[in-house]
Amino acid sequence: MTAPADTTSAARGTAATPALEIRDLVVRYGSGRKAKRLPPAIDGVGFDIAPGETVGLVGESGSGKSTIGKAVLGLHPPASGAVRLHGQDVTRLSLKQRTSLAADLRVVFQDPYSSLNPARTIGQTLVEPLRLMGVGAAEALVRARKGLESVGLPADAVDRFPSQFSGGQRQRIAIARALVCDPKVVVLDEPVSALDLSTQAQVLNLLADLRDEHGLAFLFIAHDLGVVRFLAQRVVVLYRGQIMETGPVESVTQRPRHPYTVALTAAAPVPRPAEQAARRAAREALGVGSAGSAQPAAAGCPFAPRCPLATGICVEQRPPLRLVDDSLTACHHAERVPAL
Ligand SMILES: Nc1ncnc2c1ncn2[C@@H]1O[C@H](COP(=O)(O)OP(=O)(O)OP(=O)(O)O)[C@@H](O)[C@H]1O
Ligand code: SF4
Ligand SMILES: [Mg+2]
Repeated sequence: MTAPADTTSAARGTAATPALEIRDLVVRYGSGRKAKRLPPAIDGVGFDIAPGETVGLVGESGSGKSTIGKAVLGLHPPASGAVRLHGQDVTRLSLKQRTSLAADLRVVFQDPYSSLNPARTIGQTLVEPLRLMGVGAAEALVRARKGLESVGLPADAVDRFPSQFSGGQRQRIAIARALVCDPKVVVLDEPVSALDLSTQAQVLNLLADLRDEHGLAFLFIAHDLGVVRFLAQRVVVLYRGQIMETGPVESVTQRPRHPYTVALTAAAPVPRPAEQAARRAAREALGVGSAGSAQPAAAGCPFAPRCPLATGICVEQRPPLRLVDDSLTACHHAERVPAL
């Protein structure tokens, strides 16, 4: 069933007040006239995350996932649009205002080796953000020790250095550092990509437990839909800085309505070989071209040069996000996309 959609409201979570709202976000890199002529890295993206909800942000390398994370964290100012944390726009804050909000909005990066300062003890690393919030030294140390225990590490790890821990343990420390401030929203940028499979599963389980226990909102950035399927309730599929499809994770992964999502879903590993083979066959039947194909026409669908279903309208008109079943899909021909 297809229906016209209020795309902004349909992309929202269920809670009345979202923890995080992203509206019409446009992000550019570089400055000057030449940079302005290039397509923006993020081009009109909007979605919400409810308290206690995980929204997975997926797409190929270079699609703009980390750029959205950076805009949310205030690490790269957007050209236009809004990022609201509990209703307050965080994109145009003074340094002082941002510092006071920093505890509510935390991040875990991909690389557990470069994200911890090797010269500082784990205790110093965990205490620092608390001290910046004005927490006294003794209480900060107590919270750091508790934070380590909450991620399954011994409290006396505060006296050790990052080099004394494995990659998985370091990622637990990075999670403890993010959560020790009692945040509302956490940006997780590929937090398990650098870990082996069994460690990935442990860290994903830990994240799910901590989210549910503290009602955290996660923006969970990942390359592949397989990992997102485990943790997220909703998913946003990004291509060339635009949303191709967004909706409940089961709908988007089981019955994708956008040819690009079909390609991503078919590429995500699944544990059952028969299902994996069926997905590969679906992808091959659809005949999606590889990344690096020709540049899309500015006025049309960004996926057109790679899309086997493309017709004239795809090159002439950018498809708006519209409701198809229970997902929003930016495709003129979503009804023709074959089931996986
Ligand atoms: N500092 C920068 N200066 C200029 N362009 C940049 C910068 N950072 C990212 N870009 C460009 O912005 C686009 C989006 O990059 P981004 O890092 O957000 O993608 P991504 O989806 O996170 O990719 P990956 O999966 O590889 O991490 C890419 O075209 C990239 O080349
Ligand atoms: S709008 Fe056209 S080119 Fe774009 S994904 Fe849909 S069918 Fe393919
Ligand atoms: Mg990235």
